[in-house]
Amino acid sequence: MLGIFDSGLGGLTALRELRRLLPEEDFIYFGDTGRVPYGTRSHEAIIKYALQDMRFLMSHNVNAVLVACGTVSSTALDALRSQFSIPIIGVVDAAVYAAAAATKNGVVGVIGTGATISAGAFARSMAAAAPSVKLISTACPLFVPLVENGFIDRDNEVTKLVAESYLSDIRKGGADTLILGCTHFPIISPIIESVLPNVTLINSGAEAAAELAKIAWNSGLLSHGTGHTEFYVSDEPQGFSHVAAVFLGKDISSETQKIDIDKY
Ligand code: DGL
Repeated sequence: MLGIFDSGLGGLTALRELRRLLPEEDFIYFGDTGRVPYGTRSHEAIIKYALQDMRFLMSHNVNAVLVACGTVSSTALDALRSQFSIPIIGVVDAAVYAAAAATKNGVVGVIGTGATISAGAFARSMAAAAPSVKLISTACPLFVPLVENGFIDRDNEVTKLVAESYLSDIRKGGADTLILGCTHFPIISPIIESVLPNVTLINSGAEAAAELAKIAWNSGLLSHGTGHTEFYVSDEPQGFSHVAAVFLGKDISSETQKIDIDKY
């Protein structure tokens, strides 16, 4: 069984890709909906939450974990890897490699939460992978609560206005490729596309999912199960299940359970 966690709904963008790539694998998904958003919190708080999220997944005997959260991947990956010996994959490097391969004009944008952008992990990774690429970084924290509250329809005027405002520097800077460095953002990619037409969007969760699938396959970590996913959240499941159903195209309310994350 493979584990995936995020502060809320965003990791579903990675899970959807994992289920497509590994249709027979069993997954366990944890969304920390009781404490979302992570991206406005201190590094110490994010590390504490991420360690609890990992301990919960470890209690289900997962073979590997996808940290399907740009914020945790940018700030807490080393802390997680120092405490757990199973493979732990973050979303930063996979997205950076995909963007470096996709850009034609060498100008790439990256958007994420405040904590992600101030941590600078995408900038460091890009400088190492493709030093000639110019990276324009913008924090878009309001996108997270908009997604969590279901403001995801392509015609949603509120989310469109916020996107126009957040993405103007990236448009002015001439980026031809944009890393969605927060896993919540692909859920509103039709809106982002309408603001930045002709820009290639890189879905960081999906890129990391492909990396995890490859590692799990090559390292014999797949359990060859029944293609089942268990969903867990840390607050009432209704809101999560509702938006998840829109995004996954499937009602998951009967498979979603609430847990007390403070026990881990
Ligand atoms: N999906 C998380 C990320 O990728 C959202 C962060 C948050 O909770 O603020 O960064």
